[in-house]
Amino acid sequence: MLNIALPKGRLGEKVYDMLERAGYGCPSIKENTRKLIFENEECGVRYFWVKPSDVSIYVERGAADIGIAGKDILLEYSPDVYELLDLNIGKCRMAVAAKRDFYDDQRKTLKVATKFVNIAKAHYAASSRDIDIIKLNGSIEIAPILGLSDVIVDIVETGKTLKENDLEVIETIVPISARLISNKASFKFKTDEIERIVNSMRSEITKDD
Ligand code: PRP
Repeated sequence: MLNIALPKGRLGEKVYDMLERAGYGCPSIKENTRKLIFENEECGVRYFWVKPSDVSIYVERGAADIGIAGKDILLEYSPDVYELLDLNIGKCRMAVAAKRDFYDDQRKTLKVATKFVNIAKAHYAASSRDIDIIKLNGSIEIAPILGLSDVIVDIVETGKTLKENDLEVIETIVPISARLISNKASFKFKTDEIERIVNSMRSEITKDD
C-alpha cells in the first residue's frame, strides 16, 4: 500500500483528478464527508488530506510515502525528501510587492512582512540588503497598507489580491508549481510502486504551449 499525502483545498482536488486519470482513483474520496483518509485496495493507494504546508512533514517523516507539495513549501522548509516530478499545476510566483508609491531607500532597513521567512531572508541576503522580517500567518497584503511593513514577500497567482489592495509586484523571486515528492526510505523500498505512479502521473501532465 502506498500512502499519499494530498494538500487539502483547490490544488488537492486538481491533484486528485490527475491521480484518478492516471488510474489511481478512489471513488469514496468524492463523497461529501469529513473523513480524512481514503483507501483503494485494488490500486494499492491510501490518500490522506492534510494541510498543504504539512505535506512535506508527513513525507519527510515517512507517515506518507509520497505527497504533493508546492515548491514554495519545499524552498521555505527544505525538507529532506526527493522531488520527483513537476506537475505543472498550482502555478504562481513568489514575489516582492509594495504600495504603488513605494520608494526603496537603500540606506534604511527594509521591513518585510511574510509567511516565507527563509525565502525572504535568502532573497535579500543575495544582495546584502539589510532587512527586518515580520512573520505573519496570512492576509499579508494588509501589512504595507497599515504601515506594518515596507514590502511583502508572498505568493501571487492571478494578481487580483494585490490589485484590489493597491499593491504591485516590484520583483519576482521564483516561479512556483506543485511537485510530487517522496520519502527517501520509501523510494528505496517501494521503488517499483513509486516509479509506476510517477510514470502514470507524468503522462497526465499538461505542458505549456
Ligand atoms: C494567497 C497569497 C495571496 C493570494 C494570491 O493567499 O498569500 O494572498 O493567495 O492570489 P491572487 O494573486 O490570485 O490574488 P491564500 O489564499 O493562501 O491565503 P493567506 O495567505 O491569506 O492565508
